Amino acid sequence: MARIELRATSKTWDDVVAVEPTDLVIGDGEFVAILGPSGCGKSTTLFMLAGLYAPSGGDILFDGAAVNEVEARDRNVGIVFQSYALYPHMTVRDNILFPLRFKDVPREEALKRANAAADLVQVREYMERKPSQLSGGQQQRVALARALVKEPQLLLLDEPLSNLDASLRLTMRSEIRNLQRKLGVTTVLVTHDQIEATTMADRIICMSRGRIEQVGTAEDLYHRPDSLFVASFIGSPPINLLQANAAGGQLAVGDGRLPLDGRADGKVTLGVRPESVVLGEGSLQGRIDDLEPHGRETIYHLTTPLGGVRALEAGAVARHKLGDTLPFRFADSLVFSTDSGRRIDGARAIAA
Ligand SMILES: Nc1ncnc2c1ncn2[C@@H]1O[C@H](COP(=O)(O)OP(=O)(O)O)[C@@H](O)[C@H]1O
Ligand SMILES: [Mg+2]
Repeated sequence: MARIELRATSKTWDDVVAVEPTDLVIGDGEFVAILGPSGCGKSTTLFMLAGLYAPSGGDILFDGAAVNEVEARDRNVGIVFQSYALYPHMTVRDNILFPLRFKDVPREEALKRANAAADLVQVREYMERKPSQLSGGQQQRVALARALVKEPQLLLLDEPLSNLDASLRLTMRSEIRNLQRKLGVTTVLVTHDQIEATTMADRIICMSRGRIEQVGTAEDLYHRPDSLFVASFIGSPPINLLQANAAGGQLAVGDGRLPLDGRADGKVTLGVRPESVVLGEGSLQGRIDDLEPHGRETIYHLTTPLGGVRALEAGAVARHKLGDTLPFRFADSLVFSTDSGRRIDGARAIAA
């Protein structure tokens, strides 16, 4: 296992900056997720860790030693690609054995390790098959076994579940998580799926446009987002963002006014999670213009003097109906500087 460090590591192609100079430490045995929208530099970061891409600047360190000059196959890194990238003409066994070819592992020992890796991900019974004779989920497991057979000090997973159907994704999520716990291998998962990141990883690295926006636990990112980007990228249904102006301890939001707790001035954006909108009580008024039943919960769209507000209420039965006018309040809120997009610590709207 290894402690991984990026020091001002960057990657550019001609005029494309894929990854800006980035500092990051991943602890020995930690499971982190790099989360962000398509094109933000997740895979590029992963491929630099793997040694498949050379950084344009900065250093990559494994256990304190720079590996910039170390070839991919000498880094002892296991990688699972989004497309699996299994060799179609080889059997499952030969696919899993492949990474050991370049190592001085005796045949007997190599077979033992391939079997052990296959057992870990439960593909032992398919050893004679070709990848085309396997389902997507089974191919995924073989790719995982191939990544693990070297007993890597770092496991890299690039969107490993994106080609699986929803129920299989759910199973594989917890299987990979459990496997990682059992092996204790330092793991970096790349994903654009917030649920995957929050359910699997110890810590999440949220990226946007080649930069790290925030590093933290799922709870940090959800409840204490550093920026508007993180606040709106994390959470489903998404956070309400209301344009406002702060002056004299008050927030002017649309046609409404709310007392402000904490210090903020000028153009701000008020962020309210849909579940923080409490319906049926409070000093604000809104009308339900749309509602979406989701089984265990209902999402309401309200027209209010503050602007449009989305509210989420738990419960199997919707308690309010279309056209109802009703009071509401905010149980909690966040305030961001509209210009910088940064959250203003300690500021919130009082909407009791
Ligand atoms: N081989 C490449 N040559 C040129 N540009 C690339 C290459 N690979 C990625 N990029 C660009 O770098 C940026 C980040 O890409 P990538 O790391 O693949 O994003 P992600 O994995 O987050 O979707 C994108 O703008 C992408 O077009
Ligand atoms: Mg990618």
